[in-house]
Amino acid sequence: MKKNILFLIIFLLAGIFTTNAQKTLDKKVDTLLSRMTLDEKIGQMTQVDYDAIKKNVDDIVKYSIGSILCGGNSEPEDITAKGWADLYDKYQNMALRTRLRIPIIWGIDAVHGHNNVDGATIFPHNVGLGATHNPKLIEQVAAVTAAEIKGTGMQWDFAPCVAVARNEKWGRTYESYGENPDLVKMLGAAYVNGMQGKNLAGKTSVLACVKHFVGDGGTTNGKDQGDTEVDEETLRKIHLQGYVEAIKAGAKSIMVSYNSWNGEKLHGHKYLLTDVLKGELDFKGFVVSDWAAIDQLGKDYKSDIEKSINSGLDMIMIPNAPGQDNNYVDFITKLKELVNENKVPLSKIDDAVRRILKVKFELGLFKNPMTDKNLTAQIGSKKHREVARDAVRQSLVLLKNDNKVLPISKNLKRIHVTGKSADDIGNQCGGWTISWQSKSGNVISGGTTILQAIKNTVSKSTEVTTSTDGSGAEGADVCVVVVGETPYAEMLGDREDLSLAKEDVTAIEKARASGVPVVVLLISGRPMLIEPSLNISNAFVAAWLPGTEGQGIADVLFGDFKPVGKLPHSWPKNMQQIPINVGDANYDPLFPYGFGLTY
Ligand code: GLC
Repeated sequence: MKKNILFLIIFLLAGIFTTNAQKTLDKKVDTLLSRMTLDEKIGQMTQVDYDAIKKNVDDIVKYSIGSILCGGNSEPEDITAKGWADLYDKYQNMALRTRLRIPIIWGIDAVHGHNNVDGATIFPHNVGLGATHNPKLIEQVAAVTAAEIKGTGMQWDFAPCVAVARNEKWGRTYESYGENPDLVKMLGAAYVNGMQGKNLAGKTSVLACVKHFVGDGGTTNGKDQGDTEVDEETLRKIHLQGYVEAIKAGAKSIMVSYNSWNGEKLHGHKYLLTDVLKGELDFKGFVVSDWAAIDQLGKDYKSDIEKSINSGLDMIMIPNAPGQDNNYVDFITKLKELVNENKVPLSKIDDAVRRILKVKFELGLFKNPMTDKNLTAQIGSKKHREVARDAVRQSLVLLKNDNKVLPISKNLKRIHVTGKSADDIGNQCGGWTISWQSKSGNVISGGTTILQAIKNTVSKSTEVTTSTDGSGAEGADVCVVVVGETPYAEMLGDREDLSLAKEDVTAIEKARASGVPVVVLLISGRPMLIEPSLNISNAFVAAWLPGTEGQGIADVLFGDFKPVGKLPHSWPKNMQQIPINVGDANYDPLFPYGFGLTY
C-alpha cells in the first residue's frame, strides 16, 4: 500500500514539475516573441542554403535569418570535421550579432551517418537498417550520428525518412526502412529516440526531422515527387504511421513531401498539414518545407508563399540567392506584403515563430550556440565505426547458401575476389555521401572496402587475388563476386528496369565458368532482378548499401558472425510483379518479405 502511495506522489510531483517546466518555457518564448518585429519573425521562418548566402553572409544579420542548411551539394572548401565546425561557428557568431541574438538552427542531411564530412562514420542506408529489424541498434546508430553532427556544431538532422517504399522503381527506396509500415514506424521512432536523446539540450542530442510528410513512398509507378493515388484509409494505414510513432517519441520537426495526394501537392495541403498533423496528431514542433518545394505549387511565388504558409508550413527552405528567381529576399519581402495585406494572418506567423523558438530553447541553443570541440575529435572514431560495423553485420540477408559454401574458411590456399564493387567505397556507400549523388571510387576517406576487409580477415598463408570483371578465379578455392548499383539519389535513381547490369551478369558467368564455388554479394539500394545469376551462384547475399565499414561483411562471410538479416522488401521475380508487397493477393515473390537464411 505504502509503495503505491509513494509512486502516486512521485507521479504527481513529476507531472507538476513537467507542467511548470513547460510553463516556464512558454513564458520565455512568449516574452521573446513579444519583443520581435514582423521582419524578425519572418526571418525566423526563413531557412537559407549555405551556397545561396555565402557571398552575402551579412544578410544573416540584415534579415535576422533563423536557419541555415547545407543541401546535398552545398559544402565549405574544407570538408573535414574541423572545416565544417569552423563554418558553423562563423555563421553562428554572425547570427549572435542580430538585435535579439537569436541563434540559427543549422539543418543537414546526415541520412546514413554524417555523410557530408570527409572521414565520418558512414552507416548502412535505411534499407539495410530495415533488414536488421533491430530498434535498439537503430537507436545506437542515431546516437552516434548525432554525436558526429554535434562535432560539427550543427543540431538539426533531416532524418529519419519514414517513407514506406511500396514500389522499388522509386529512386529513394534505400532511404526507407522498407515496405511494411510496422517496421518503418518501429525503426523511425527508435531513430528519433537515439538522435534526440532523453533531453534535446543534451551535449550529443540533435533535433530529428521526420520526412517526407506524407506518402512519399506510395506514388504511382514509384515516380519520385509523383502522385500518391490512394484513399484516406490507405494513406493513414500505410504512410501516416511513421509520423504517429515519431511524434509519440518526441520528434519536434517534420519535413513536408514533394509528392501529391490524389493530385493535390502536400506543400499546399491544409487538411493534412494543419487539421491532421497539428490538430489530430497534436504535433507541437515545427513544419519545414523541402528544397524549393513551394515553388511547385502554383502560378507565382507570392501565391506559393500564401498557400504554403496558410496550409501549415512554419519554415521555408530556400536555395536561391538574390538575382535568382524565388530567392530568400523575395520570400521575406512577399511574406511581409501578404501579412500587411491580411492574406496571411499575423496569428499564423506568431504560431510558426513560437514553434521554432520553442525548439531552439529546448535544444539549449541560446545557452550553448557554438561547437563543442571535444565532439569534433570523435568523428570517425574507432568506437563509432564499431557500431557501424555491427550494423553492417546485422543488415546482411543470406538468400542462398548451397552446400554450406558459407561461411568461408580463413585458412584457404587462395580466395579470388572480383566484381566492380569489390574494392569501391563509393559503391559501398551509395548516394548522399560527401555529395548529393555521390560517385563510385574513393569518395570518402577512412573506410574499409570489401576486398580490404577480406584481406584483413584471412590467415597469412591465404592468397587473395582480384580482378573486376569476373576473370581469374581458376584454381582458387572460392570466388567472391561483388556487383550491384552505382550511386544515385532521389529522382535520378528512378528506374523502369531493375535488372543487374550486363557487366555484373558477365562477371558472375565468368566466375561460374572457372569451376570454383561462387559467392555473390549484391550492393544495391533495393531488391533487383537477379535470376538467372542467382541460379548459377552457390551463395547469394543482399548487402544493400553498407557504408564505410566493409569489415562487417567479412565478419559474416568468414563466420565470426552469423547472418541475421531479414528482407525489408518482398523480392520480385520480374518487373511485371512490381509493386509487390506483403499482404498482396496472389503474392508470389522470388523471396518473401522477412526472408533470410542463417548458418
Ligand atoms: C532534398 C530532399 C530532402 C532533403 C532536402 C535538403 O531535395 O528531398 O530529403 O532533406 O532536399 O537537402
